[in-house]
Amino acid sequence: MIKKAVIPAAGIGKRFYPLTRAMPKEMLPLLDKPVIHYVVEEAVKSGLDEILIIVGHGKEAIIDYFDYNGLDEEMDNYGIRDFPSIYFIRQKEQLGLGDALKYSEKFVGDDPFVVLLGDTVYVSSTKKTVTRQLIDVYDKLKSPLIAVERVKREKMKDYGIISGEKIKKNLWKVDYLVEKPEPDKAPSDLGITGIYILDNKIFDYLNKIKIGKNNEYQLTDALNLYVKENDLHASSFKGKRYDIGTKGLWYEAFMEFLKNRRS
Ligand code: G1P
Repeated sequence: MIKKAVIPAAGIGKRFYPLTRAMPKEMLPLLDKPVIHYVVEEAVKSGLDEILIIVGHGKEAIIDYFDYNGLDEEMDNYGIRDFPSIYFIRQKEQLGLGDALKYSEKFVGDDPFVVLLGDTVYVSSTKKTVTRQLIDVYDKLKSPLIAVERVKREKMKDYGIISGEKIKKNLWKVDYLVEKPEPDKAPSDLGITGIYILDNKIFDYLNKIKIGKNNEYQLTDALNLYVKENDLHASSFKGKRYDIGTKGLWYEAFMEFLKNRRS
């Protein structure tokens, strides 16, 4: 049973300058809760109760947010008290997702684990969370798995894109992956959305990669090495992914949450 979630929230947040000079982008609000709250909620509702958040320079607000210190009864509505204790580790230097993830090696040990990006929120269209849908596919396949969705041509350069053979509805066997290709170089329109179910072999490959796209160590490059020697699948899901990674996308997500709010 998968119990561990690793949430990288260590990026510089360049696409949110100047705001992120003094505030982590993961603390941006969607209605009255910060984005990172939704990410932890997604993990907990998916049955993952051992949680590690990878932080870094300037991300202290994320750590403070999950404190029980000063929580009054009013806060019970938000569920923070029900969250499990959260582990934090600091990335020493902000060198990209592929580097940040290496800090989770000891926490992961020999167990399979889920990586959920700290700036991406999912709203499922079924009773199961999106992450749970993916874990259920993993349980059947017993092979590492990443979430994908179709992306428009003009968005391909913003995401990792996979090349794969479709093996059944909503499921592909991955051949290779490219980080943020120009549309003409993209091998498909299947973009990596940021849920990765991995095993600890990934750390061997994270240790082998060289600096990649945008001068950062890329998880996509490690997966590209991984897939040469191991099986990797990709699955789509029922629900919507909100990427909060840029000002425009955050604004769109906020407006949509406002439109759909229940209270
Ligand atoms: C990261 C990954 C990319 C993935 C994306 C999803 O990029 O490197 O492969 O498609 O998350 O949001 P980032 O958004 O951190 O630049």
